Order: sequence, then C-alpha cells, then structure tokens
Amino acid sequence: MSVNLEQRIRDRSCRYGVVGLGYVGLALAAGFARRGIQVLGFDIDDAKVAAVNEGRSYVPDVDDAEVASIVAAGRLEATTDMGRLAEVDVISICVPTPLSKSRDPDLSYVEAALKSVERSLRPGQLIVLESTTYPGMTEEVLKPRLEKRGLVVGEDIWLAFSPERVDPGNHAYGIHNTPKVVGGVDPASTAMAVLFYGIAVDHVVPVGSAAAAEMAKLLENTFRSVNIGLVNEIAQMCDRLGLDVREIVEAASTKPYGFMRFEPGPGLGGHCIPLDPIYLSWKLRRLDFNARFIELATDINIGMPRYLVERVTSALNARSRSVKGSRVLVMGVAYKRDVDDTRESPALEAMRLLLESGAEVVYADPFVDTLSLDDRLFTALDVTPALLADVDCVVVTTDHTDFPWAAVAAHAHLIVDSRGAVDRDRVQHVLWPLSGPAVRGPQASADQTERVFQVPRENQ
Ligand SMILES: NC(=O)c1ccc[n+]([C@@H]2O[C@H](COP(=O)([O-])OP(=O)(O)OC[C@H]3O[C@@H](n4cnc5c(N)ncnc54)[C@H](O)[C@@H]3O)[C@@H](O)[C@H]2O)c1
Repeated sequence: MSVNLEQRIRDRSCRYGVVGLGYVGLALAAGFARRGIQVLGFDIDDAKVAAVNEGRSYVPDVDDAEVASIVAAGRLEATTDMGRLAEVDVISICVPTPLSKSRDPDLSYVEAALKSVERSLRPGQLIVLESTTYPGMTEEVLKPRLEKRGLVVGEDIWLAFSPERVDPGNHAYGIHNTPKVVGGVDPASTAMAVLFYGIAVDHVVPVGSAAAAEMAKLLENTFRSVNIGLVNEIAQMCDRLGLDVREIVEAASTKPYGFMRFEPGPGLGGHCIPLDPIYLSWKLRRLDFNARFIELATDINIGMPRYLVERVTSALNARSRSVKGSRVLVMGVAYKRDVDDTRESPALEAMRLLLESGAEVVYADPFVDTLSLDDRLFTALDVTPALLADVDCVVVTTDHTDFPWAAVAAHAHLIVDSRGAVDRDRVQHVLWPLSGPAVRGPQASADQTERVFQVPRENQ
C-alpha cells in the first residue's frame, strides 16, 4: 500500500482532495494544481463549487485567470459530492475552526468533514488535517475514528497534521515559498506527508509528532497575539504619559537585534490570531494549567475597540459634541489592509459600540460592499471630499491602500486614526495626536482640543 502511494506521489499521478475550499483550501488546491497535480475540491457551499467549476476565484489571493486556466486544463474540479472522496489518494481538511458562543473550540466543522472522510475511507489514503486545532486532536480524535473500520494508521492509511500558514494579502509569501511544518501520528505518516507536500512547498519541516505540529502553529499565533497585546497596552500607556506611541515604536525598532516590531491598532481580527490561542488555553485548562499570557493578551486585544470608541467620545466631547447624534464614518471593516475578510474584525465591534452610544454610523471599505451587523444592513459609501466634510468624525480602522488618504487629511474635521494611516503632516483641520508634546500642524495654537488620535497600524 505504502509503496503504491509513495510511487504515485513521486510520479505525480496521485489525486489530491481538498475538503473546504475557503481562503486556505482554494489557495492550496491551486498551488498543487499549478504543480501538475489533479485536484478535486470538496465544499458544502454550492456557490463556491459552481464558481470554481466556472473558473472563477472568490479568494483575493487566488487569481481568477489562474483558476480559469487550471480548470480548463482539467487539473482542478470542485464538487459537493463527498462520496467522491474515495477517488482521491491524499486528503487535506481545511474547514473552519471557530469558537462557540461560550468561546470554546467549535469543532463541529472538523467533525462533519471527518464523517465524510470516514465514509469513503479506503486503504492507501493519506489524510492531513490543516485546520488549526489544539495539541493532541489529530492523534486523540482523528486516529481512532479513522481506524474504527479496521484500517491501521501507518500501515493501511497515513495521518498527519500540517498547519496552514497562508497570510492573506501577503504577496511575498505564498504556498510555494512558505516553509510548511508537518507532523504525522507515526514516522511512516510523517514521511508520506513530507513527500507529498514537497510537490508544492519548497521547504517542508518535519516534526516528531502531529501534536508537535499542532503546538508549533499555536506558538506562532500566540506569539503574535501576545506581542500585539503588549504593544496595544504600550499604546494606552503612551496615551496616559502624553507620548506618541508611533514615535516610540519607530525608535525602538532601530535596535538591530533583540526587538521585533509590532504595531498597535484597534484590536485583533481574522479567523486565526484572535481564536487560535483560545484553542491552546482551552486544552490547558483541562490539564489544570492557566495560560496566563494568552488570557491577558486576549483581554487587552478584545478591549481595544472599546478603547478606540472612548477616544472618539472624548475627541467629540472636546468639540462640545456628544457621540449621540454625531455622524461617524468608519473607514475599513475588513480586519486588515487590502483583504475582504471581516471575520472577528475589531471595526465591527467599534461600529456596534458607536451605534449603542447613539451615533449615526456609516462605513467605507473598497473590499466590502455591504455589511450585515446585528440584523442591520449597511452599504459601503465612497470616500469623497463631500462625505468627509459632512461627517463629524472619521474613524480609521483599516489602512487599505486604496483609500484616498490625502483627501481624508484635507477634508475631515476630526480624525481618530487607529492605524497611523493618515499623514500627520498633511492634516489641516485637526490637531494631533491625543497628547500634548506632539501637537503640531497649522492650527496647533488655535484649538488644541481638536485632535487626531493615532493608535497606529495593527498587524493582523
Ligand atoms: N484564513 C487564513 O488566513 C488562515 C490561515 C492559517 C490557518 N487557517 C485555518 O485554516 C482553516 C480554514 O480557514 P479558512 O479561512 O480557509 O476558512 P473558510 O471559512 O474561508 O473556508 C472553509 C470552507 O470550508 C467549507 N466547509 C465547511 N464545512 C465543510 C464540510 N463539512 N465539508 C466540506 N467543506 C466544508 C466552507 O463552506 C468554506 O468554504 C481554519 O482552521 C483556520 O483557522 C486560516
């Protein structure tokens, strides 16, 4: 069996199944198809399956033209028919791993995908979980389930975990040049998965177990969450101290070693950094261990939209205006620059809080045409000089490249900039930043109560 699959991987005749054709799955499918592998994508979403089969991409990092060409070449097909999982030799599971309402891991998507895989499982298949999860899940949950019908992992089938590192919007690193960590539940599974990923990934990094691979992913994202939490707290400290946090980060970043730059911002967003560390702390709670760094960083990061709205409130207050009744333009609802993903976006929480306070909230985002927030539907507005002049406050939550930043600086009356996107030296109608020492600009002496708050660019 093993010789058979190994040979099929080596001669590139193996067929690859990707379960979950989202941000991760579609990029992975395209990456392997690009290297000449026959890929069959599986999704429960009819619209996504139809789009792929029509040669259209719905993921910004995957080109329409590329999907069209690999579909036309017969190297990529999509289906909702999970029974066809029996046709493929290697299966990657890339379904969502969100949190439940009580902020515990929601493994229902992995469970459902696993059920489909179990039903069609046959000897000679390699199964790889790519969805982020807690250390131990592949070995403790997937392995016994796959062995239920008598197949032995490591002999008849192979099982590994390989964390996904895709960074939406990152044009420098994609599937081929981002090293990929792979850990099997046994050495044979690790070897098979390393061989397979080597087709599309230039540098595959084997580790000693699936749990080690699961933990490595959680270290990476916990590292980011903790450091973003730290710099977000430093931003608040700077605010109290009357210091400009951007200047401090800039200065500290000149140290050529021992410092890694992180930028403060409106909080954490996306499907990974806000959620993944919770998978780790949840697992550790079961082992009577309190993951304090994770809890603290989560607390600080979750609190950032509220902090931002407090700054809006005091900025309006300084102009003798209340939030209630003010028209506020939120610029950017995607969780980070130049992507269309609003999952966990801190801008949404900031909008909610502004609405709760009675503000009239409008938003702009070149990547998100409409937004449904707590049963209310919002439509994106164009950022025009007229709109900028009309609103009482502009809140910058995402620093999309295509926003007209010069117009924002020129026409807005009041800017609360959580990304450091507005060029401070061009701001004409506001004073900034929040605290005394750095107040500059042509109107600095006229009214020091009008200010731009710059909790700068956040990095995820
Ligand atoms: N998006 C990222 O940047 C990123 C980066 C690294 C890791 N991850 C991890 O990768 C996993 C997938 O994330 P994503 O962003 O691609 O999610 P996504 O929501 O974009 O895509 C998941 C897809 O799975 C499909 N799906 C759900 N249940 C299914 C089932 N039972 N069978 C078949 N398809 C099913 C959905 O319809 C959807 O198309 C998550 O665990 C995430 O944490 C994501």
